Amino acid sequence: MRPLRPLLLATALLLATAASCDSTPETKVDGPFRDSKRPVAERVADLLARMSLDEKIGQMTQAERGSISPEEVTEFRVGSILSGGGSVPTPNNRGGWVAMVDAYQKAALATPLGIPFIYGSDAVHGHNNVTGATIFPHNIGLGATRDPQLAEAIGAATATEVAETGVHWTFAPCVCVARDDRWGRTYESFSEDPAIVASMSSVIKGLQSQQVMATAKHYLGDGGTTGGKDQGNTELSIEELRRLHLPPYEAAIKHNVASVMVSFSSWNGTKVHGSEFLITKLLKEELKFGGFVVSDWNGVDQIDGAPGLSASDVRTAINAGVDMVMAPAVWREFIQVLKAEVEAGRVPMSRIDDANRRILAKKFEFGLFERTKTNRNTAAFGSAPHRALARQAVAKSQVLLKNSGVLPLKAGTGRIFVAGKNADNVGNQSGGWTLTWQGSPGEVPGGTSILKGIREVAGSGATITYAQDGSGLDKSYDVAVVVIGEKPYAEFEGDRMEGTGLDGEDKAVLEKVRALGVPTVVVVVSGRPLEIGSHLDGWNAALAAWLPGTEGAGVADVLFGRQVPSGKLPMTWPADGGHPANAGDGKAALFPLGFGLTY
Ligand code: BGC
Ligand code: BGC
Repeated sequence: MRPLRPLLLATALLLATAASCDSTPETKVDGPFRDSKRPVAERVADLLARMSLDEKIGQMTQAERGSISPEEVTEFRVGSILSGGGSVPTPNNRGGWVAMVDAYQKAALATPLGIPFIYGSDAVHGHNNVTGATIFPHNIGLGATRDPQLAEAIGAATATEVAETGVHWTFAPCVCVARDDRWGRTYESFSEDPAIVASMSSVIKGLQSQQVMATAKHYLGDGGTTGGKDQGNTELSIEELRRLHLPPYEAAIKHNVASVMVSFSSWNGTKVHGSEFLITKLLKEELKFGGFVVSDWNGVDQIDGAPGLSASDVRTAINAGVDMVMAPAVWREFIQVLKAEVEAGRVPMSRIDDANRRILAKKFEFGLFERTKTNRNTAAFGSAPHRALARQAVAKSQVLLKNSGVLPLKAGTGRIFVAGKNADNVGNQSGGWTLTWQGSPGEVPGGTSILKGIREVAGSGATITYAQDGSGLDKSYDVAVVVIGEKPYAEFEGDRMEGTGLDGEDKAVLEKVRALGVPTVVVVVSGRPLEIGSHLDGWNAALAAWLPGTEGAGVADVLFGRQVPSGKLPMTWPADGGHPANAGDGKAALFPLGFGLTY
């Protein structure tokens, strides 16, 4: 055997020590901050007094899992890690996540003060990064239910799945008020109406009831940008900004939301990430938000307009009131730059302490110091009760736009032809933020497509024939159910500045059905109202299904009248997809906000 080189030897020794640590009790600094019976403020004050500048800056740092090792968490005292969209451990299942989170946590606890870290992930319609999770309808569908209690129940169910993977924090809900359907994040919005969004923020109550921290995002005015451009510029007077975009944050704060995420967008030309007025004066001082403010993905870099995390980016954001910086791959630079800015006196220590008080208070409140290992003895993940809840939510979110009497379909009899690219595609019906950031057509393990749901609900006795492109359809069929709409997208990749018209594939299948004269039910699976006005005359019924998620049978429940349609439009359906309309603006609408037929 060749002799070990010194470096290898050191590593071997380190590993040996780490291994032996498993059995030896950890020697951590003790003090009043460890006593869960003491008031949070007292624990915070005690802990803060023991912390060095490095430790404080570490608490303000959030790295991405792909860019940091457990060893670095210990070395740099990093206080938080996130999964970007689709950034997952191997294997991507509950066990894989628990192993990952617990390994990072062990590393965080190995620091002298043993301050637990928090892991954050975008569980925006269920715990959507994880294989086998229950995927609920995207917010636009939940908005159509107008049911805050249902949103709360979904929040609680999502949080139990989140907690079972060890994750402590979700970047949800998006409480954006989408005012222009061309925006790629329209489906993340409960409604164009701030009062409806505010009422649906009850999801926060559900999430946090299971000790998962929620995030109201993206503060402020993300849904109000000119032309619906993602990360664009919201050009509004302060009065209009307050009237349209602030109410959901007031509601979220009433629900005691743990964190608020800053919007990439600008307000009248100023990046929100650098706005002391919006973050400190309005949110923290006026609205008395007591949680912590997290920046969006490299959002701080954008402040000065130049690429890279500059000193001016960092000091502007922190001085504006950002408490934790999502610096996915550039977390080392962030730590370095912020330290230099503090030492140069350009970021006051009082600001660093304020940020730490806010972050630590939440870590205490959510019991992080007391539950440092994931509970492995629960079984809610992707469970039947959660799927049943999701199916119910899907049914309640369906909005019946038109019905000349062809609906409800009769179960157990007749010949039904099913067509369209979104009929048998759980990926398409789930949309963006499903397994990956953008989502993708195809399988989602555990999911039920709309076609499968139709087969189940129609039962034996009915003939169900399916062809995506409609081939094989003839006049012998009683009805054709054509499931059209959008394919998955997220954020700016979903911006449709050219308008929201149907694609060629949908038009072709609709034309095939129309030519045969078979009674037609069109189900629109989409993240926003599409331009359907010029096609509607040829359809006998139209149902807006939004992005239902994995439980496609909920759509079938409504088609067959197992559940009567009760959804109400959360958005005005514009007459022309290129020209967005909102209630009260006098613009032409195909269907107004609140529209929805029933049987
Ligand atoms: C990440 C997302 C993030 C996006 C920002 C992607 O690479 O996966 O989580 O939102 O970048 O542009
Ligand atoms: C998105 C956020 C998300 C974050 C982390 C950003 O690009 O704007 O909504 O929480 O990425 O994935």
